[in-house]
Amino acid sequence: MSHLIAPSILSADFGNLRTDIEMINSSAADWFHVDIMDGVFVPNISFGFPVMKVLKQHAKKPLDVHLMIVQPERYIDTFKAAGADLLTVHIEASTHLHRTIQAIKVSGMKAGVALNPHTSIQQLEDVITDIDLVCLMSVNPGFGGQKFIEATRNKIVRLKAMIQSCGSNALIEIDGGVDTNNSASLIALGADVLVAGNAVFGSEQPLTTIQQLKSL
Ligand code: DX5
Ligand code: ZN
Repeated sequence: MSHLIAPSILSADFGNLRTDIEMINSSAADWFHVDIMDGVFVPNISFGFPVMKVLKQHAKKPLDVHLMIVQPERYIDTFKAAGADLLTVHIEASTHLHRTIQAIKVSGMKAGVALNPHTSIQQLEDVITDIDLVCLMSVNPGFGGQKFIEATRNKIVRLKAMIQSCGSNALIEIDGGVDTNNSASLIALGADVLVAGNAVFGSEQPLTTIQQLKSL
C-alpha cells in the first residue's frame, strides 16, 4: 500500500473553510485529519461539532478524527453521528482503553490510539491486534506548526517491528512537524500515514505540497 496523506484542518482558514475543504477534495490527499481539543487534555481548544458538520457536508474523503480530550469514551457515538470514519483516542486519556476501542468498533468506525511523545510503545502490546491505527505524536499535542521531535524516528522503527511480529494490521500515523523535508525519511522508516497541517496550509501552493508529500 502506498502511504496516505492527511492534511490537518486545524491549520485551515476558518473564514474560508469551504474553500479549503474543496482544495483538499481536489488534491492528492487521502483523508481529512480533524483535531479536537478540549482545553483540559491539551492546553488549547480547537473546534467542535458545528465545524465537523460543515466538514462532513462538503468533504469527499474520510474524516480521521484525533481526539485530544479527556475521557474520550463519553463522545464515541456523537463523533460517529458527526461523520467520523476513524476515531483516535489518546492512551493517556482513556483509563479503560480496551473497552473504548471495542466501543469505537461497535459503533462502526475504525479505531486508533495516539501516544504522546513521552509514552512508550510497549503500552500498546496488549491492544495492538485490536486497532486499525497508531498515531505517534511527533510534537506535544495542542498546537500546529511545532518542530518535529527527532526521537520519533526510533519509535517508528520499534513500533513497526511490534506490529509485524504481532500480525497486526495497524497503520502508523505520524502527527506533528511533518513537512516535505522529513516526509520521505519517515515513510522509509515505516510510517503509513503522514498528517500535515502547517506544511500544507502554510504553503503558497498547497496542492503542490500535498502532491510532493504523496509522491515522495
Ligand atoms: C497537534 C495536532 C496535529 C497538528 C499538526 O496537536 O494533533 O494534528 O495539527 O500540525 P503541524 O503539521 O502543523 O505540526
Ligand atoms: Zn492530530
